[in-house]
Amino acid sequence: MSNPPILAGVVGWPVTYSLSPVIHSTWAHRAGINGYYVPVAVPPSEDEFRQIINGLRRVRFAGVNVTKPHKENALRLADEASEIAKKAGAANMLTFQKDHIYADNSDVVGFANAVKEQSTNPGIHGLVLGAGGAARGIILALQSLGLKKITITNRTREKAEALADEFSLDVVDWDRRSNNLDTADILVNTTSLGMTGQPSLEIDLNTLKPKSIVADIVYSPLETPLLKAASSQHTIDGLSMLMHQAVPGFKQWFGGTGIVDAALKQTLLTEIKRRETA
Ligand code: ATR
Repeated sequence: MSNPPILAGVVGWPVTYSLSPVIHSTWAHRAGINGYYVPVAVPPSEDEFRQIINGLRRVRFAGVNVTKPHKENALRLADEASEIAKKAGAANMLTFQKDHIYADNSDVVGFANAVKEQSTNPGIHGLVLGAGGAARGIILALQSLGLKKITITNRTREKAEALADEFSLDVVDWDRRSNNLDTADILVNTTSLGMTGQPSLEIDLNTLKPKSIVADIVYSPLETPLLKAASSQHTIDGLSMLMHQAVPGFKQWFGGTGIVDAALKQTLLTEIKRRETA
């Protein structure tokens, strides 16, 4: 009898729009792996999250990616977590071992690899806009890349100060967010500003250091006004981060090597277009 297919998925709310199933299916198809990666909708309740994760374990899922709003729940539920997931305070990967759940965070290495794709020498100064959950992973990634100075700015200054204490960062006032751009090698927007339906991100890029990297975690629209305004720089969009963060899960659960390339990105762009017109 042949082996049963490997099962994995992504857990979130909402989850229908997730492109992770497309990424994993593309890689599984390329590698001839017998596996399925499915979206699993779990309402924003820690109790339901727990129950559904236990259900997925019972039906022999190898593991799941976890997205909003369950990344903190995932870390709490796990029996063991990687150092990076603990530092990020969130897990986007759960691997189901026998009687044991292991939590990891591939958002950090995903962003770091997206930066490395743009430049082998990412510089020394990073400027991070926003101080929410996503900012923590970005800060850890910038530190892992060896940036010596990271400046954070956030509408609610106290939240920036709390992160600055925890990760040894500099803080600038939100109103002065356009002021450090001449020295920043990497600028990352981790706020929801610029997302479809949200207010725009007001920032003056006139003084931006040439050849710096500009990244936006917002992926809807994919080319945000920030990335458009920075089009003469190296830019990193939400799809690039999404593809890179998927690599560790594909390795862990399907045993394959996920290659991030132009063909995969084109597949995702086609899928986005298909969904827009469906
Ligand atoms: P995530 O997990 O994606 O980081 P979050 O924790 O809700 O989401 O954080 C959202 C970020 O976007 C925060 O930095 C938030 O700023 P506040 O801490 O001041 O709330 C930022 N943000 C959201 N709406 C904003 C707005 N209208 N102006 C400025 N910043 C905004």
